[in-house]
Amino acid sequence: MAVKVTPDYIDLLNNAVEHEIGSSVQYILQHGKMEKLIKKIIPENILLDKTAYDAVGKYLREIAIQEMKHAAAIIERIYYLGGKATTTSNKVNVGGSISEFAKNGVKAEEEALTLYRQIIETAGKIGDWQSRVLFEKIYSEEEEHLFKFQEYLKFQDEKDETSKVPMPEWRSIYTNDYFALLNKAVSAEITGVIQYTNQHEKMAFLNLRAKNTALETVTETNKAGVVSKILKGIFMQEMDHLEKISERIYLLEGEAATKPDPLPVVGETAQDFLVLDHKLESDTIILYRKIIAKALELGDITTRRLFEDILIQEEEHFWIFDDYVK
Ligand SMILES: [Fe+2]
Ligand SMILES: [Fe+2]
Ligand SMILES: [Fe+2]
Ligand SMILES: [Fe+2]
Repeated sequence: MAVKVTPDYIDLLNNAVEHEIGSSVQYILQHGKMEKLIKKIIPENILLDKTAYDAVGKYLREIAIQEMKHAAAIIERIYYLGGKATTTSNKVNVGGSISEFAKNGVKAEEEALTLYRQIIETAGKIGDWQSRVLFEKIYSEEEEHLFKFQEYLKFQDEKDETSKVPMPEWRSIYTNDYFALLNKAVSAEITGVIQYTNQHEKMAFLNLRAKNTALETVTETNKAGVVSKILKGIFMQEMDHLEKISERIYLLEGEAATKPDPLPVVGETAQDFLVLDHKLESDTIILYRKIIAKALELGDITTRRLFEDILIQEEEHFWIFDDYVK
């Protein structure tokens, strides 16, 4: 086997299994405690109604299942690497109210994130790429759990000043400079959306008049018609990028940019459009590589993966325009 697997490495992966089993049990027990909790006389119950219990209870059940699936995937990997997977679990902290559930959840998820960053780094070092990819995927999901629990606590905090949660240390990477960099992507996507939509419409207009050959007349298409269709497809994808990047920024409690940058340029002919779009995609690719490198440096795995996925599509756009530009 190309990967050098040591007992220490298997232990590290087993720590993750213990963590997943522990969280899964924790959340399913909390789910199970809901009915009991709703009948208890605690101050929180005066503020919450049944719907809140139903919603939180449903969510806890969902993530309990998700954590067990994480455990299963890691266990599978351990066996594949020739190790023996553990059946033990981390300490489970249930708690006695929804806000305690959320606090214990924040703690569990933060521990998972710290551990998984370490595993991702180690897996990369020894060349165990499959495990690295697996843990990157899991990492993003743990991050979602963490945010959900934090959201809940923040809502609680508005009523209860004593239960303030301090900003966890790992979030200190989200500085204004970093948001400014991510917002360059937001602005570039806005530019793409505006530029392509405008060109698409203008092209549809050109399409009506510019049938220059017999073939074009017979098939009722011409270059403008073809490009117009392509632009529509691409602009839908840019919309999707815009949505995902801004969603990420908001989730991290930043403010998303609202203006295009560079300014959109439309052009006069189909050929103009293609040259301009080719350039825009090319610049975007450079920018996104920069963002990926920065995210990698900071250890912001989820953002890095998001931009890696988007970059694949931007490169596709580039090559589509590149084909037509010649
Ligand atoms: Fe998990
Ligand atoms: Fe989780
Ligand atoms: Fe894009
Ligand atoms: Fe693009």
